[in-house]
Parts: sequence; structure tokens; C-alpha cells
Amino acid sequence: MKVLVTGGAGYIGSVVASQLVEAGHETVVLDDLSKGHEDAVPEGTRLVCGSLLDGDFVRGTLSEGFDGVLHFAALSLVGESVEQPERYYRNNVCGTLNLLEAMREAGTGRLVFSSTAAVYGEPQEVPIEETAPALPTNPYGSSKLAVDRLIGAVAEARELAATTLRYFNVAGASGRFGEDHHPETHLIPLVLKAAAQSSSVKIFGTDYETRDGTAVRDYIHVEDLGRAHLLALEAAAPGEHRVYNLGNGAGFSVKEVVEAARRVTGREIDAVEAPRRAGDPPVLVASSERIRADLGWKPEKPGLEAMISDAWAWMRDHPDGYE
Ligand SMILES: NC(=O)c1ccc[n+]([C@@H]2O[C@H](COP(=O)([O-])OP(=O)(O)OC[C@H]3O[C@@H](n4cnc5c(N)ncnc54)[C@H](O)[C@@H]3O)[C@@H](O)[C@H]2O)c1
Repeated sequence: MKVLVTGGAGYIGSVVASQLVEAGHETVVLDDLSKGHEDAVPEGTRLVCGSLLDGDFVRGTLSEGFDGVLHFAALSLVGESVEQPERYYRNNVCGTLNLLEAMREAGTGRLVFSSTAAVYGEPQEVPIEETAPALPTNPYGSSKLAVDRLIGAVAEARELAATTLRYFNVAGASGRFGEDHHPETHLIPLVLKAAAQSSSVKIFGTDYETRDGTAVRDYIHVEDLGRAHLLALEAAAPGEHRVYNLGNGAGFSVKEVVEAARRVTGREIDAVEAPRRAGDPPVLVASSERIRADLGWKPEKPGLEAMISDAWAWMRDHPDGYE
């Protein structure tokens, strides 16, 4: 297939673009480099640099003809989305609208969209199934849910074959591709930075009703996540919008992440206990039964230490990230 990867200069998009190249797909990356890195664009792909907010640019790019689009490009910082909701809706919703309109004009029939566990807000039941109520608690999650619904409507009206993948916490690295966010808000790279720089990391909340009092999250290796995209790209039929949760189905607590990072790095990591943050649910764990049953997907690297050691290896090879 010929595939366009929006956001392919970012963390997850670069890993998946490299998997596409390896699987023999012709791959083009669209990214405005607002958060991504030119050095993260994989060999064997072509970068078209521009924003999804530029309708003419998006139309022009799609007009060269693609079989499918993997749509990673988005703003994805929860705190920033609370402060700048208009910017988040514009980028994530209007950007996707431009993409969908350009796909329709160009006759591009397949789409896989990166959604998030944040659409579920504070769930009543875990593991979280796709049928759980979608009640996001911040503009980032709401903007992703709005896109989910937009895609559902377009799939039905325009015979698009679409899949939404709702990721839980993505972790790890793959070869020369790794996580280099500014600012970094994800726990594993923050813990590893504390290990590398002999600084400290905060544990927010130690009085949750969990096995050790700290919040439990579902971590998925970025390579396992990527494989799900390749399966999803081929699976949906025209007019169909599939929605899948993507996680390990097992949760790890913040303290377990810190302990695993101490074992992997062999370093003391100073973990400072701090009060809970507003809006942080105690446990977020995915049920990935639906994607396992439909697409035969299952994680090959479900262990926390494997994820942390891949991330650590990348960080040691790239002490200054991609810069
Ligand atoms: N990292 C996670 O744990 C996680 C969890 C759930 C969902 N997601 C979703 O997965 C996707 C990828 O996440 P990531 O961690 O790789 O993020 P990232 O910030 O590393 O990558 C996103 C890329 O999109 C690009 N981009 C943003 N807006 C754009 C626009 N208007 N036009 C063109 N390019 C644009 C950025 O420059 C960046 O390279 C996002 O949609 C995110 O919401 C990520």
C-alpha cells in the first residue's frame, strides 16, 4: 500500500512509519515539526513538511494518491489543553476535518486514527471496554472524542474504512526511534531522566485504593502498538468504523515503575511523594479483548522491564534527544 503518516516525525508516528517501510509499504510522512523532529523521520520515507491546518497543503499532499492514512498528528498535553482549549480543538478537530475532506476529494479509502484512554475520563469499571461511557474530563480527551465521532459519521456517509485505536500509556523505544517530548509528561521517561541526571521524580498520590497506594496505569510497548496499526490498516471494510482499546490489560503502579527502573538502570532514583493531582483516576487499565479477537493482535513485549530497558537504551544513545 501507499500510506501517508501524519505526525510521523513524532514519537509513535516515527516508530510506525519505520515498521511500514520494513513491511514493504510506500510511506510518506506529513508533519509540521511543531512537536516532532526531522531526524526522527525514518529512512525510506519522504517528509512533506506542513500543517494539517493548511487546507490547500493537505489537499495538495493527498492528491498524489494514497491507499490509506495513519493519523497521529495532534496536540496531546492534558494540562496545556485545559489552558488553551481553542488551540486544541482547532488543531485536533479542524486539522482532522481538513484531512478527511482532502481524503474524500482524492479518493483515499482507509484511515487509522490515534485516539486515547482520555476519552473515558474517570471510568466506573476496569478493565475498560470500548462500550464504557465516553466522558472525557479535559479538552484534549474531548477533542479526540469529537474526532472519533466525526470519523464515524464520515465512514458511514462516504464509505471510508476507518479504525480508531484508543491507546493507553505508550512506552519504550524501537531501534533509533524513541520518546523526545518537550515538555515530557510521561512517567517512564521522567523516571529515567531522574536516573540519568541524578535528579528526582514526583509520585503524585500515595493514598489511592490500590495495592501500594499509587496510581495504576496500563503500559503498552510502542512496537506492539505499531503492529496493531498495520493490522488495522487492512482490516476495516468500506463504510465501517471500528473502535479498539489498546493496552496490555495489566496495570503497573507508579511505585512499581520506579522500582523496575531502579533494577533496569542499576541507579538510585529519588522518588518524592506528593499529593494527588486533580482528575487523576486511581486505575486505568484497558480491556483489549476486542482487538485480540478481531485482529489476532497480542502484545509481544508486555513486561514493564522490557519497555523500560528499551527506553533506557534509547536515552543513553540519545542523551540530548534528537537535538
Ligand atoms: N504517547 C502516548 O502515550 C499517547 C497515548 C494516547 C494517545 N496518543 C496519541 O498518539 C498520537 C501520537 O502521540 P506521540 O506521543 O507520538 O506525540 P508527538 O507529539 O510525539 O507526535 C505528534 C506529531 O504530530 C505533529 N503535529 C501536531 N500537530 C500537527 C499539525 N497540525 N500538522 C502537522 N503535524 C502536526 C507534531 O509535530 C508531532 O511530530 C497523538 O495523536 C496522541 O494524542 C499518544
